[in-house]
Amino acid sequence: MGTGSLAAVLAGSAWAADAKPRSHGRVLLVDELGKPLKAASLRAQTNYVFHYPFEATPVFLLDLGKAATATQLVTREKLSYQWPGGVGPRRSLVAFSAICAHKLVYPTKDLSFISFRKGAAVNPQTPSQGSDLIHCCADHSQYDPARGAQVLGGPAEQPLCAVLLEHDAKSDQLTATGTLGGELFDDFFKKYEMKLSLEVGPNARQTVAARSTVRELDRFCRNPVRC
Ligand code: FES
Repeated sequence: MGTGSLAAVLAGSAWAADAKPRSHGRVLLVDELGKPLKAASLRAQTNYVFHYPFEATPVFLLDLGKAATATQLVTREKLSYQWPGGVGPRRSLVAFSAICAHKLVYPTKDLSFISFRKGAAVNPQTPSQGSDLIHCCADHSQYDPARGAQVLGGPAEQPLCAVLLEHDAKSDQLTATGTLGGELFDDFFKKYEMKLSLEVGPNARQTVAARSTVRELDRFCRNPVRC
């Protein structure tokens, strides 16, 4: 999805009576030096994290290394929507809220139970399906990032909420523009109010303004758990 992606999605009709994309403001993705992130600088199949739409809500940014095509999905409330697929020259760049749709596990600076795993999926609770999935070690929900984070295994009842991206072909920059799918931000802030006030401070629920820093998960989090 290129420039004007949110407008394009808004103009679409596949979701007309269903889950609608929500604009949360345009936020340019920047590197750790504060410079606009170039999509070409992302390593394929590597976990990157930024925060959007709120200061305390983490998002996975992934270059899947392969095209991700539009996918029809449904939320827990049975609202359907069409995830528009990846952006960028190969349509391989995708972003999803890193808050697990089961019990809201999310990556912090100290610990992460949820991340993208390259290769064949391993799930101790259900037969493995697919490969290159986002896996939550808490209860083994698995999401396919090439299919809009559709649930392939475990107890999650809906896909991870998609974060809509625009890719500027000239500058190779990425901008987050909104979300699509089952948002869980209200539940997240309710569940973790005290924890977030300690981790992030009084700005936890403040909307990210203008720019958001992208970091590799292994740099953002001291203990990424592999299960
Ligand atoms: S919290 Fe992620 S699977 Fe339960």
